[in-house]
Amino acid sequence: MAPRASSACWRLFLLAVVLLAGAAAAKKDTRPINPLCPKSCKSEACLFKCHFDTLQGLLHLSVTPEGGPSLPIFLERVAKLGDFLDDNVTARIDPVGTYHGKVTVGDYVATFVHPLGLGSRTTLKSSTITQFASSGLVAVATSTQEYYFKITPDQITRVDMVMFTRFDPVTHKITLGDWNFLRFPQFLENLAAPNPPVSDASLAQMIQGICGVDEKVCKPTGVPGYDNTTDCAQYLMSIPRISVHGAQGDNVYCRFLHTAYATVDPKYHCPHIGRTGGGQCVEKPYADHFLLFPDGAFMGTPARPGKPPKH
Ligand SMILES: *[C@@H]1O[C@H](CO)[C@@H](O)[C@H](O)[C@H]1NC(C)=O
Ligand SMILES: *[C@@H]1O[C@H](CO)[C@@H](O)[C@H](O)[C@H]1NC(C)=O
Repeated sequence: MAPRASSACWRLFLLAVVLLAGAAAAKKDTRPINPLCPKSCKSEACLFKCHFDTLQGLLHLSVTPEGGPSLPIFLERVAKLGDFLDDNVTARIDPVGTYHGKVTVGDYVATFVHPLGLGSRTTLKSSTITQFASSGLVAVATSTQEYYFKITPDQITRVDMVMFTRFDPVTHKITLGDWNFLRFPQFLENLAAPNPPVSDASLAQMIQGICGVDEKVCKPTGVPGYDNTTDCAQYLMSIPRISVHGAQGDNVYCRFLHTAYATVDPKYHCPHIGRTGGGQCVEKPYADHFLLFPDGAFMGTPARPGKPPKH
């Protein structure tokens, strides 16, 4: 009996040692906490706000500063990004590459702030989260955002990212990123050529189509867009073939698309193929693209400072 009791005692003692050692080890986790998140952030509502604020902070630090790229600001931004990135963070930025460690990932995120980065060629004007979801059960947030680049004062192009981001459950810093650019080759083409080329043959076909419909459909309906086919062709040769946003805008391609609709409903659509663009084939203000889907339009309003979400 005695040996058994003593063996049980030893086991209890060992268990206690292991538990105490575990508690001591847990207490020794002195890693700094992401400053945007409270230390005891555990509820789903708290994690939701913590993840949203962190991603928003990350994106804002990537935007080119007012006065243009600068080395001191770049270094300051990379240091601030370190607050959100785990020392051993890994980010796969598809299709650009995979980056390890908070300095390397921070450098990448701040590339538009570096004087030798892309910021000298174009300006990352703004970024916004358009969709956001976070689950407190697994510390992963999903977000979609748009980056707006100013190429020239009136040329803006856009690249969208879908981001899956995992956070450390204790420090709330980013440990893993699977960040995917959408239509990246198209974005690079837009950067290189603000007015992407449409071949001369396509242009000739589009002009023939637009001017033909204006003459045969719009004029008889009493809503001509041009004086005659020569006037029409001359005007269309003087405007951009297509814009960086694609067909939408004051360009030939937009009018060509609306030509098809004009044959069906001339009164409504003929103005769109004419000189003025009829409110459709016109340059929309920047904010119309930028704020098309404000935060929360798809997935509910994200948590905001001072406005905790109701869960
Ligand atoms: C990063 O990885 C190294 C090597 O595995 C490890 O010693 C260190 O504690 C890790 N840092 C963090 C913050 O997890
Ligand atoms: C076509 O319109 C233009 C511009 O109004 C005008 O100068 C030209 O004389 C017209 N041509 C014909 C053949 O009517």
